[in-house]
Amino acid sequence: MSTGRINGDIISAKQFTREQMERLFDDASALKPVFSARKRLDDARGRIIATVFMEPSTRTRLSFQFAGVAIGASVIDFGSSDMSSIAKGETFEDTMRMIDDYGPDVIVLRQRVPGNAARAADMCDAPVINAGDGSNEHPTQALLDTFTMRELMGKVDGLTIGMMGDLRYGRTTSSLSYVLDKFDDVTVYYIAPQELKMREEVTGELHNLRYESVTRPDDIMEDLDVLYVTRLQKERFTDPSQYDALKGSYSITVDYLRKFKKVPIIMHPLPRIDELSVDVDALPQAKYFEEARNGLYVRAALLKQILNV
Ligand code: ASP
Ligand code: CP
Repeated sequence: MSTGRINGDIISAKQFTREQMERLFDDASALKPVFSARKRLDDARGRIIATVFMEPSTRTRLSFQFAGVAIGASVIDFGSSDMSSIAKGETFEDTMRMIDDYGPDVIVLRQRVPGNAARAADMCDAPVINAGDGSNEHPTQALLDTFTMRELMGKVDGLTIGMMGDLRYGRTTSSLSYVLDKFDDVTVYYIAPQELKMREEVTGELHNLRYESVTRPDDIMEDLDVLYVTRLQKERFTDPSQYDALKGSYSITVDYLRKFKKVPIIMHPLPRIDELSVDVDALPQAKYFEEARNGLYVRAALLKQILNV
């Protein structure tokens, strides 16, 4: 019988059942007071989490590390690739093989190449958590984003969500689409300039979600429960002049939001660059820092499930 717990490798947001996600979100909610009281748990004592980030990260790396330590595990960080033997030319495969041979109980991996989380999972005995693989996916971000919606709105079914920005190279919006596809009666508006439209490889995998692509949010803003803003993924543009041309093509400011009768909840996976102005932070609808903090609870709950503690 299914326990609803998540175990093994976490590679794609497509892999979660609704039952697993509801169970995880309940567990994450239950952990909130532990973190608020700065309590430390003992459950994962003796377990080792390896965090291997081969692309920059603040939130994902640190929230996994804080969450791991808070549940009693030890964390070993790979550090910067520049200070590893990758800088001498060692391959990704040899590097992952070495890390796995040292015996971690779980590996949290961020990689530049789409598909490399799955490749690592095939090679490693330890469960691998995909913490972002190029423009492909970021499944644990999608879990914390959906948890945030459930916490704020009490449910996910029936929500209308605008996903705005770089949907071509963004990985949070593909994973979030796969997660929302498991809920009922959810509508997504993909809001992006023509050049940055949501990839067909993603929409082709959606079965339950209602979606529509638009280039501007003006006509649909008042229908939204959530506006999920994302930055241009500068590092993934092959043509820097295209980045320069698109930079500044959308920007959410208080001035812009003032023209709508209803302002939705504003979320953003962060980091923000200039697509979301800091003056929005003062609005009661601005929830992106709360969203980032929710990463702690969701990742602690997820690590507990994967470590079976
Ligand atoms: N931090 C998120 C990611 O790693 C979003 C972003 O970088 O724009 O995908
Ligand atoms: N949201 C997110 O993945 O942030 P980092 O890139 O800072 O980890």
